Amino acid sequence: MPEDKDVPKKENPPSSRTRRGGGRTRRRPLEPPKDGTVDSPETQDSPMGKSSDHQGERASQKNPRRRTAPQKAPEDERSSSVTYIRKLKGKRPIVALTAYDAPMAKLVSNAGVDFLLVGDSVGTTMLGFSTTIRVTLDAMVHHTAAVRRGNPDCLILADLPFGEASLSFDRLLEACRRLMQEGGADGVKIEGGKDVADDIERLIATGIPIMGHVGLLPQTVKAIGGYRKFANDKEEAQDLFTDAIALEEAGCFAIVCEMIREEVATELTRHLEIPTIGIGSGSGCDGQILVTTDVLGLTPGNVPSFVKPYAQLATEAGKALGRFVNDVREGRYPKA
Ligand code: KIV
Repeated sequence: MPEDKDVPKKENPPSSRTRRGGGRTRRRPLEPPKDGTVDSPETQDSPMGKSSDHQGERASQKNPRRRTAPQKAPEDERSSSVTYIRKLKGKRPIVALTAYDAPMAKLVSNAGVDFLLVGDSVGTTMLGFSTTIRVTLDAMVHHTAAVRRGNPDCLILADLPFGEASLSFDRLLEACRRLMQEGGADGVKIEGGKDVADDIERLIATGIPIMGHVGLLPQTVKAIGGYRKFANDKEEAQDLFTDAIALEEAGCFAIVCEMIREEVATELTRHLEIPTIGIGSGSGCDGQILVTTDVLGLTPGNVPSFVKPYAQLATEAGKALGRFVNDVREGRYPKA
């Protein structure tokens, strides 16, 4: 990682660590995965559990220091627990996508993601809004329930929509309750840092797994005047560390890092014990999440520059539908 004067250093973290009395003893920060390899079952507390694979055991007995590739693809061993996600840190990159309905949930799950997010990006990708602000709790419950009915084989997280964290703790708790009880989510993602950390701690004590979200918070886009990169200067980088540390101390099992300068996201990833899931924050995070419609070329309008489209399904769908229209008009469908 390039040396960067604006990146807070491990030896000198911001003072928020003592916000809750500084009770916890922190282990040495884990290195982010470099090559996606998984340590042998003998040397690591694998999130996939102890391997029963005898070939792997024999290979490691010959040379105990040798790393053995897992015989099963990691996605075959997925679990829908947040502990599974938490333990992937330092083992291999975590991968996630969004889903908004039942078929998309199955498709995304079958692709092998570690978790899927019912993002409030549903507003801009599927519901025709220009921001996520108009996505309501009812809409989030509706889409989360559809995703659950798709029966994906992985953890389902749901976004807490705009405004639900701001009024009272009771309202926040009720919103999370609905996302889990009515929608079937396994946990909730909440945008914000130190300001919401106390409430997050109480939610977690109630039994609600929470994923944090720092950097660009799309729900604040009207207030900050547009989408932009975060941690561009020293002060913003310090604030970001303070927020992320507050979320870790509150008990979040992972944190989404959106549109954060790569050097800062990388350093934050080294500093935190919980996984960072990057979006537009470079390659140094513990995992990556993207909006599925962006990846598939289905999002109406422009997609962010960091997105790599893996297909152009809107173009393909347009061509297919055009062929159907022509076939009907020209008597080729249905056949007489
Ligand atoms: O709403 C969303 O889709 C998100 C991203 C992190 C993908 O919050």
